Amino acid sequence: MFNRKKNKTKFATRPQPVSLISLLDSRSNITEQYRTIRTNVQFASSSDHPIKSIVVTSAGPSEGKSTTAANLAVVFAKSGQKVLLVDADMRKPTVWRSFKLNNEQGLSTLLVSANDVTQAIQKTVIEELDILTSGPKPPNPSELLGSKRKDEVLLQLNYLYDIIIMDMPPVVTVTDAQIMASKADGTILVTRENMSDKTDLIKAKELLDIAHARILGVVYNCVANTKERNDYYGAFAK
Ligand SMILES: Nc1ncnc2c1ncn2[C@@H]1O[C@H](COP(=O)(O)OP(=O)(O)O)[C@@H](O)[C@H]1O
Ligand SMILES: [Mg+2]
Repeated sequence: MFNRKKNKTKFATRPQPVSLISLLDSRSNITEQYRTIRTNVQFASSSDHPIKSIVVTSAGPSEGKSTTAANLAVVFAKSGQKVLLVDADMRKPTVWRSFKLNNEQGLSTLLVSANDVTQAIQKTVIEELDILTSGPKPPNPSELLGSKRKDEVLLQLNYLYDIIIMDMPPVVTVTDAQIMASKADGTILVTRENMSDKTDLIKAKELLDIAHARILGVVYNCVANTKERNDYYGAFAK
């Protein structure tokens, strides 16, 4: 049903895409910025409106959704919470490559089966961080994400994890992020310096509003750094 062969070929030929700085360098200024995002999410969470499931999206491609989602998942896990990173970008999945995991099983296979969620979830080098990769590319990602089965899966994941971070496709291009944002407790919108288009950004906000997404904030990715800022934040990095 799915094109497994194509996925495997890409694994062999494509370069490593997403840097996992928070995993590799916990003292860097950039890791500290991801911790700040974590803290802001925690402040936005209350007993009335707890934030367990978080959608990460952007207006367009390559703005840093996967980078943000992966690093955020790492810093949440390092704070001791049980975290699941879900690659819900079944169109251009990258999480399996970034974490060097197998992608034969994942979200797509889970959504078309009655399997227990734990069968598709993989462990990582970080004790508290598990990953649900995208699975082989399905022909109909939006339909799978809009299915009743997706609700069952989310319910099970909510029971098993403190935080579920979902890496999504761009919200302006396809409906997947809108579908998931309407179910999630919060949405983070990633923008990238010198790349994000203002009109697209406004459109992204409109689309998320239509989906009744709770936008937690905007991540301004890839901002040019200065030495002063590095030194300042470096002093507080653990
Ligand atoms: N802050 C950053 N600094 C340097 N490179 C980045 C940064 N954010 C993203 N990238 C790189 O840009 C490319 C696209 O990022 P990615 O997170 O995969 O975007 P998206 O998931 O939105 O398509 C990747 O090669 C990634 O490593
Ligand atoms: Mg991505």
